Amino acid sequence: MLFKPSPTGREWGRGRSFVMKVLIATEKPFSKVAVDGIREVTDKAGYELALLEKYTEKAQLLEAVKDADALIVRSDKVDAEVVEAAKQLKIVVRAGAGFDNLDLQACTAHNVVAMNTPGQNANSVAELVFGMLVYGVRNFFNGTSGTELLGKKLGILAFGNVGRNVARIAKGFGMKVMAYDAYCPKEVIEQAGVEAANCQEQLFDECDIVSLHIPATPETRQSINYDLVGRLKKGGILVNTARKEVIDEAGLLKLMEERADLKYLTDIKPDMDAEFAEKAAGRYFATPKKMGAQTAEANVNAGIAAANQIVGFLEQGITKFKVN
Ligand code: 3PG
Repeated sequence: MLFKPSPTGREWGRGRSFVMKVLIATEKPFSKVAVDGIREVTDKAGYELALLEKYTEKAQLLEAVKDADALIVRSDKVDAEVVEAAKQLKIVVRAGAGFDNLDLQACTAHNVVAMNTPGQNANSVAELVFGMLVYGVRNFFNGTSGTELLGKKLGILAFGNVGRNVARIAKGFGMKVMAYDAYCPKEVIEQAGVEAANCQEQLFDECDIVSLHIPATPETRQSINYDLVGRLKKGGILVNTARKEVIDEAGLLKLMEERADLKYLTDIKPDMDAEFAEKAAGRYFATPKKMGAQTAEANVNAGIAAANQIVGFLEQGITKFKVN
């Protein structure tokens, strides 16, 4: 039996009479090897692949999604307007972990399946934590004597895929490792050979460095605030490779002005970047662009996983990693 797309374009089936179009829309592009890998998957499925890279205007995205059946994005915002414009869209995959950039309600309302690719870029993000940490403890390579990571206690806030990789690497540096995760039982943390904290306050009380790996959710928004970070001992370091939204920027800035011993290293430029750079000069570092998942390996892992999930869903209805 032949299924034709419905007037809304969101229904389809085996033996369909049209070619599925996958759009990769990445303001921050994947490496070429990742795009080639995605193309291999879509070619094999008989799909068309379109690319919208380094776009600067939302209008470009709204135009490009018009005839896409499937969409692969990174941190690109897929809001209600984008979903509405994408009349043929059946699935959007966030090639990465955090899906706070997808309007899940809009996706569900328009019968669009939303997925992420958990774990695929976790090692890449975890390695960057240590890149930033070495840079931070060596005083941003300014020629003065810094400190080592060996023997320092690292607190990991949230023990998901990235947090677990951070724990593994930290042990290689000879660090003591503690973790807290509101949704992960203590036993699981302990089974990974990591000390489990009872609450996030304990992490900040006991660790020299705290690394954030919480998602941006209504509960976590601005949860890393003046009081919590203020618990860090003298010389404490906060590392953020998670999301800027979890930080209470005004509170952290106030604290850093009051405590000249604290450092803040972030892979997500805060809205108050200029103020941090001025008022916490020499103790603040932000990457110019989010670099955590910016490795060929992470791009390949997440990009190809996204492509395979799209084919799996469109051909077989597989909804593993659906988040809406
Ligand atoms: C993620 O959530 O997977 C990371 O923050 C990476 O985001 P990016 O793909 O925008 O670099």
